Parts: sequence; C-alpha cells; structure tokens
Amino acid sequence: MPPKVRLAFIGCGGVVAGHLDAGLKDFPDVEFVGWCDVNEGAAEARQEQAGGRGSVYADPAKMISQAQPDALFIMVPPFAHGAPEALAVEHKLPFFIEKPVASNMSVARKAAAGIKRVGLITSVGYMTRYRHSVQRVKELVDGQTPVLMHGGWIGGGPDPDSDSWWVQKDKSGGQFLEQTTHTTDLARYLFGEVTAVYAVPIRERRKHGRFFTAEDASMVQLTFANGAAANLYSSCSTPVGGGIRLLLWTTEMQAEFTGWDHAVTIRLSDGEPITVPGEEDIFAVEDRVFIDSVKAGRSEGILSTYEDGMRTAAIACAANESMAIGKPVKPEA
Ligand SMILES: NC(=O)c1ccc[n+]([C@@H]2O[C@H](COP(=O)([O-])OP(=O)(O)OC[C@H]3O[C@@H](n4cnc5c(N)ncnc54)[C@H](O)[C@@H]3O)[C@@H](O)[C@H]2O)c1
Repeated sequence: MPPKVRLAFIGCGGVVAGHLDAGLKDFPDVEFVGWCDVNEGAAEARQEQAGGRGSVYADPAKMISQAQPDALFIMVPPFAHGAPEALAVEHKLPFFIEKPVASNMSVARKAAAGIKRVGLITSVGYMTRYRHSVQRVKELVDGQTPVLMHGGWIGGGPDPDSDSWWVQKDKSGGQFLEQTTHTTDLARYLFGEVTAVYAVPIRERRKHGRFFTAEDASMVQLTFANGAAANLYSSCSTPVGGGIRLLLWTTEMQAEFTGWDHAVTIRLSDGEPITVPGEEDIFAVEDRVFIDSVKAGRSEGILSTYEDGMRTAAIACAANESMAIGKPVKPEA
C-alpha cells in the first residue's frame, strides 16, 4: 500500500461534513480522490470542504473506474444501501459504512455474504464503542453479572412538515432503527446478544406534514441471551429536553452515560463514584482506526465490522416487525 490511502465517498451529506471537520480532512495519509452523490451540489460542497481535492461524480461505478480508490466511505441514508456495498465487493474495496448498515435484513445479508466471500475489511460508524467511558464500563461489565438497562434518544427530530427521508418510515426505518441504533449497539456491546424484541409504537402525538410516516415515539424491550433485559425509548416529538442517556445496572455496579459524548458516572458498591468524560472528536478516532487498518491490510482495532453492525440492525428490524404484529420477535442477523 502506498503511503497515502486513496479515499472515495458514496453519499456526501451532513455526516460526511462531520467526519471531515472532526479531523479526516487533515489526515496526512489520506488522498481524497472522489465525491459521489445523487445530488451533485452535496458532492461539490464536500469537495470544497476538503480544499478542492478529488473529483465530483454522479455515478459510483464511474468514480471507482476513473478515480481508482483504495477504500470507500459509504455514507448514504438507510434506504440507499445495497448497491454501494455490492460495488465495494465487486472491486474488493475495503469500506467504512455509516450506521445503520441497512433497514432491511435481506440487503444486509447479501452484503455480508459478499464481504465474507472476498474477505473485505469493513468498519461501521458505531463511534460510541471507541469512547474511553464505554471501554471503562465494558472492562467492568465483563467481570460482572448484567441485570438491567434503560435509555434512549429523546428530542424534537426534524421539522414534522418536512419531506426529509428521516421522517419517512420506508426511507429511514424510523427513529429506533436510524438514531437510537447507537444505544442499541451500545447495549449489545456491553450486555451481549439479544434473543427477543418487543416494541410498542406511539403515534399521533403532534400534527405532521403528509410525508411523516415514522412513529412519534417508541418503547422497545430487549431480552439478552444472558437473561438481562433493557428498555430503550425513542421520541422525535418532544422538543422539551431529554437527550441521550443509558443507565445500566449489574449486580455490582450502576453506570450512567449521558449526552452525545457519552460521559459516564460509575458507582460501585464501595468507594467514590468514578467519572469519565466524553470525547468531541470521536469521528476522527474511528476514522483513524479504519485508515490504519486499510494500510495494514488487517484490522488495527476496528470495534464494529459489517457482520457485527448487521446484528444491531437485526434488533431494529425485529422491533419494526414487533410494532407491526404486536408480539415479541427474535432478531435474525
Ligand atoms: N454516526 C453518526 O453519529 C451519524 C450522524 C449522522 C448521520 N449518520 C448516518 O449517516 C447516513 C447519512 O446521513 P446524513 O446525515 O449524511 O444524511 P444527509 O441527508 O445529510 O445526506 C445523505 C446524502 O446521501 C445522498 N444519497 C442518497 N442516496 C444516494 C445514493 N444512492 N448514492 C449516492 N448518494 C446518495 C443524498 O443526496 C445526500 O446528499 C445515515 O445512515 C445516518 O444515519 C450517522
């Protein structure tokens, strides 16, 4: 591998702007070679943000053949997954993919099979796993007995009159799949695999425009293989405060994560509470690990592979099915 990784992007919206500003645009060992988006203006904006480096494309296959990247960043909304991953597999290109990996398990399973067949390095944007607070709690939980978790994402969401993909259930998969997925993934990372999901949708809490088909809120109950349980809430109808939170108990510990940066307060049965602050530049941390892995040709500390991220998506897909049928559903990755 030459000293610089040639990087190309499929999907160039808000989250790409976040990765670039968090540090990626200044990585000395990255050469930006392509920006592809169905909206040319978005691709041009990211190209400009990266100082004019790389070319703008509307067709990802053309970008790959002309720009000759070493790796891809797949940063499209949930409904647009499938084709970008198939291109990565066809061209044997390692990729970083934003969460959730899909809103439909058949799309995810097909991608996972291709990734396994050609042996690709992949990394999913579950950046919370890389936080010191999460690593500290994980070390402790691994030697203890998990009991309960309670948490989620509460906010106002996008303008309910907007035509944003986010408010459209068939495009975003709903808030639990699209946004609270960070908390679901953290729950899995700390307490292990989930065997049953029961989800209750909450609707008609406020006036919506004609595009709004997502739930206003939801409450999702998870049962873990080890017998522990979690209750995860989501609301995009409550712009009165609430934010991001996860409170968990083992037989020997209580830990409370708060805010986007997941600062934590840990209480053990004796001693003073332990606090670990969150990091602001966490996108740069996960991006560094991915770029290092591409250069090494093997994982250099990737904490969420595609196959792992698919298991988190399976929980959300099971929740969507449970909301539809009113019964618990077993997640199937
Ligand atoms: N890790 C995080 O904290 C985090 C934060 C924000 C968003 N995200 C995730 O990133 C993904 C993108 O979100 P966003 O906020 O950038 O959305 P966005 O709407 O700002 O941008 C998405 C871009 O993808 C483009 N696009 C859509 N279909 C495409 C296709 N088939 N090919 C190429 N481009 C296509 C759109 O034109 C748009 O420019 C979502 O899955 C979201 O959940 C993750």
